[in-house]
Amino acid sequence: MKITRQEQQALIDLAIEARQHAYAPYSDYRVGAALRTKTGRVFTGVNVENAAYPTSICAERTAVFKAVSEGEREFEIIAVVTDNGGSPCGSCRQVLSEFGLDTRVILADGQGKVVRETTVGELLPDAFQPHHLGK
Ligand code: THU
Repeated sequence: MKITRQEQQALIDLAIEARQHAYAPYSDYRVGAALRTKTGRVFTGVNVENAAYPTSICAERTAVFKAVSEGEREFEIIAVVTDNGGSPCGSCRQVLSEFGLDTRVILADGQGKVVRETTVGELLPDAFQPHHLGK
């Protein structure tokens, strides 16, 4: 399903809205994500930090895990909103790559301005993938 500019902006708006629920008392870096599946469903996610820092989770992975846990594994596009259009971390790139290198990635700032448009494959060249395990 190809999404229009308008739908893309609507996805960014959902990420902005979700970002209000980010729990980031330690870094103060709030992240919101909105992941659209190939069937058109949208799953949002935020970063959820923890006093035991390494147990925190990023917004992108929250969105992917929500989607997968509700039966969705084919993704079209993910919008990620931060203050400054920050890029997904390595762990989130790896998790997204499990479900396809073609998933589009839009990075936007807190005002919803698109800072970068890319794909998971571009963000994670030479990804370790299910086929390396013969899957
Ligand atoms: N964070 C995300 O939610 N997504 C990323 O891809 C980059 C980092 C979060 C993790 C942590 O809560 C905060 O941003 C600062 O690293």
